[in-house]
Amino acid sequence: MKRVLLLLGLAAVACGGPGLSPQERLTVNDAAIDALIAQMSLDEKVNMLHSKTNMSSAGVERLGIADMNYADGPFGIREEGQPNGFMSAGWTLDSATFFPTGSALAATWSEELAYKYGTGMGREARLRGKDVILGPAVNIQRLPVGGRTYEYLSEDPILSAALALGYTKGVQDQGTAVCIKHFAVNNQETNRGSVNVIIDERTLREIYLKPFERAVIEGGAMSVMPAYNKVNGDYCSENEHLLNEILRGEWGFKGFTVSDWGGTHSTMGAMLHGLNVQMTGSNYLGQPVIDSIATGALTEAMVDEKVRQILRVRMAVEAVPADVANTVMTSQPESQKIALEVAEKSIVLLKNEGVLPIKSDVRRIAVIGQNAMLKTQSGGMGAGVKALYEITPLEGIRKRAGSGVEVAYAPGYKNYPGFRWGPAPAVANPLEAAAIDEPADPGLLAEAVALAKEADIVLFFGGTNKSIETEGSDRKSIKLPCGQEELVKALREANPKLVSVLVSGGPTDLQVLEPESPAIVQAWWNGTEGGTALAEVLFGDIAPSGKLPFTFPMKLEDSPAFALGNFPDKNVGVDLFTLMFRPDVLAMSPAERQAFLASLPQPESHYTEESLVGYRWYDTKAVKPMYAFGHGLSYVDFEYGNVKAKTGRNSVNVKFTLKNCGDMPADEVVQVYVHRVDSAVEWPEKELKAFRRVTLKAGESRRVTLSIPLDELRYWDEAASAWTLEKGGLQILVGAASDDIRLKTEIKL
Ligand code: BGC
Repeated sequence: MKRVLLLLGLAAVACGGPGLSPQERLTVNDAAIDALIAQMSLDEKVNMLHSKTNMSSAGVERLGIADMNYADGPFGIREEGQPNGFMSAGWTLDSATFFPTGSALAATWSEELAYKYGTGMGREARLRGKDVILGPAVNIQRLPVGGRTYEYLSEDPILSAALALGYTKGVQDQGTAVCIKHFAVNNQETNRGSVNVIIDERTLREIYLKPFERAVIEGGAMSVMPAYNKVNGDYCSENEHLLNEILRGEWGFKGFTVSDWGGTHSTMGAMLHGLNVQMTGSNYLGQPVIDSIATGALTEAMVDEKVRQILRVRMAVEAVPADVANTVMTSQPESQKIALEVAEKSIVLLKNEGVLPIKSDVRRIAVIGQNAMLKTQSGGMGAGVKALYEITPLEGIRKRAGSGVEVAYAPGYKNYPGFRWGPAPAVANPLEAAAIDEPADPGLLAEAVALAKEADIVLFFGGTNKSIETEGSDRKSIKLPCGQEELVKALREANPKLVSVLVSGGPTDLQVLEPESPAIVQAWWNGTEGGTALAEVLFGDIAPSGKLPFTFPMKLEDSPAFALGNFPDKNVGVDLFTLMFRPDVLAMSPAERQAFLASLPQPESHYTEESLVGYRWYDTKAVKPMYAFGHGLSYVDFEYGNVKAKTGRNSVNVKFTLKNCGDMPADEVVQVYVHRVDSAVEWPEKELKAFRRVTLKAGESRRVTLSIPLDELRYWDEAASAWTLEKGGLQILVGAASDDIRLKTEIKL
């Protein structure tokens, strides 16, 4: 039978030719699938609707249907865990490639690189015998403090959608399925298990659903993970509007949904409103389903439909035989190369007053700050990776500097280790701070200053770490932790040749650091080869070319949800997610538990800023950010000229000339925004509609063409419940950043 399934799997590929949409291709085996379902008992079918282990759901061995094996996470195939939880299984071949984290990938602004990244992830998943990658994570970065802002891609839906699409196709072209997450509007970790997001339909469609929509419709994403939170009253795992009306109804999704771990909340809700697999546990989609069929509340046909949707993916993804999986190391050189390429193109030069690149006559470099030594692979819960190796910034710099240059290091500040599971260590680590806002340590500061005084250039490494930015909690502030600001001031006084390098996933408050730093680099959490890529940029082997995928606010209070008092949530309530795992709550019957949880205050999050997320807000409200969305400098200047725009049948085509005026090859990410002229509909000041990464040799000039699909210019008309294209004037703005528009022209739609 295994052989039969294998052949059917191949047939799926063969039949998936032109004419069928990516989602329809999943249905080519439906007749064979129905024949299989006809042979299955109800128990066998229901057994497929919930977890088998912490990272698998069952197949039917008797019929040759393999289990479905899942793997976190978005940035590398996660270490093998115990069958019943996340504790390490202690394997030796499961060290994976650690790819740059979400915001770093997004800073490349390259769908092509996202595709390559996906191929690396997909191939390593196959080596580990995994069928489904729990990623990409594509929610919009609504809050600068968001615990998962670094996991997500961008504050902009068009950029997020392009990267989500590239990643999805890359993974799935390797014969592995994505499970795109977290559907939908999962933008905060505070009360993540219960918060009810109150959002209007237009904002939902135009901003928050876009990345999912493209990955599902164009990318053929085979599975989707409903988020923990509620949207407009219903949990995502049982949200009729999201799962049945939009995902399956409008987008034609044919695959299966997998609840986030612990995010299933009821049998009837899940069965009737679009969930296929409960992860983890079987208390809702196990025996209660069988019981409900017996009472007539559910039908076996409903179960058949869910199983059909799972089997479509099972057939499209050929199971890796057990004796083939895990025979070589997960991390492979070709993936490591991809991780390097992404890292090279993600680093953002925020400011440069002639200090970078490091000059060839520099003999003494002072590297200050623990983040230069920080490994960022692990931590962050589901997004942690057991990397085969990780080149830290300090290692990368030492290697690149070579023997003729002295690279001296001082920790500079204590690092905040965050919440610690279990008892505190008997002897406190002198390099760890007890609180995130602990002032600078005088001893460490003096040591760093002494080193800085003797150096030709000082590289200060600040930022956050994965205990500060993590799944499960939001930051309270975006201030640089542990006295870093004090240290930067002292370093600047000691040596004016100061470069500040920020090692973080999300934005930080730079009001103190910026005036003290002649150069600032955003280096991200940049994966296995992060230190190599950073050294290449600092020494000028390559020109930096990353652009910010989110705004750096001047201060947290300027950002939209904070400015409007929408976050922190006013109605805090109790996080039901935490409660659900309390022994007394676990001991309740499903009905008791539901009644108990429903009786508690319900936290709510109101999205009254509507579509004014990120730069849409700063532009529209004329609030000056520290660094704008899309910002990023190079070591060369680019000249933009001669713009023309024309409306075609399905798109607006924009042409202009781009010249690299420098003496080294460099990439520029060109960005096209639109501004509506005399519109009857309310719009943000401007919106990104197209972008491209262009590689130019020294002195090279090229005509660049970008096209904006007319579909992307529509708005969601709430009265008509439909996408509508408003006729009228459209200003086309071409630039190097959202606040650096170089060319303007106008067209009529
Ligand atoms: C996270 C998911 C992750 C899952 C499995 C959840 O807590 O929200 O992103 O895939 O755990 O580790």
